[in-house]
Amino acid sequence: MNGFVIAIDGPAGAGKSSVSKRVAQRLGFALVDTGALYRCVALCALDAGADPGDDRALGALASAAEISFRTETTTNRVFLNDAEVTERIRLPAVSALASKVSAQPAVRAGLLDQQRRLGQKPPGAVLEGRDIGTVVFPDAQLKVFLTASPQERARRRAADLQAAGEPVDLLELTAQIAERDERDSSRAHAPLKCADDGLELVSDGLTLDEVVARIVGWAKQRGAA
Ligand code: DC
Repeated sequence: MNGFVIAIDGPAGAGKSSVSKRVAQRLGFALVDTGALYRCVALCALDAGADPGDDRALGALASAAEISFRTETTTNRVFLNDAEVTERIRLPAVSALASKVSAQPAVRAGLLDQQRRLGQKPPGAVLEGRDIGTVVFPDAQLKVFLTASPQERARRRAADLQAAGEPVDLLELTAQIAERDERDSSRAHAPLKCADDGLELVSDGLTLDEVVARIVGWAKQRGAA
């Protein structure tokens, strides 16, 4: 039996991770951070010295990578071939390469089964990504496209970096976000867009709790326990 699937897609910095984690906790659902899968492939490519333009080599890495999650109260720990990579996959070099490898059709195909397997867990799963409602789970019971204005998204990312004691350049951050968005939404394969039957949620001016409550409310209206 398949579980209830909630797809939460949207651009970088829209708050998908925090929102998805809390929605999954509230409903007792599994949490699948699909961006982490692309980050793991990027990490494999870096470690193997693979050419980021070599679709076949990257596709083979994606198909061979065994990725799993262990969700704890505050962190979603990520394992690649049994080694923990939670922190390494967040390094800036991995973020930049993840965006590039995710444009390769063989990588997307190589990760498709893995995403579907991770998402078919009763009683349900929240999958966070870019193409969950459009490609991975086109029959998801609830599809949310979570976004926020570029200024708001850059401000949030800056606050996160500041909290971690990292230097922040707001203009550079805004430019990086815009560049990643452009690449993610203009690629030929599975571009970033709201599904035809998706619900767009713009989170400017809403608190995290308000966004979570709205999504949990929609899920319950559609039959999630
Ligand atoms: O959400 P994130 O920043 O961790 O995602 C890392 C990269 O992977 C990002 O450039 C977009 C890409 N991605 C994707 O193409 N499809 C997904 N379902 C999830 C992420």
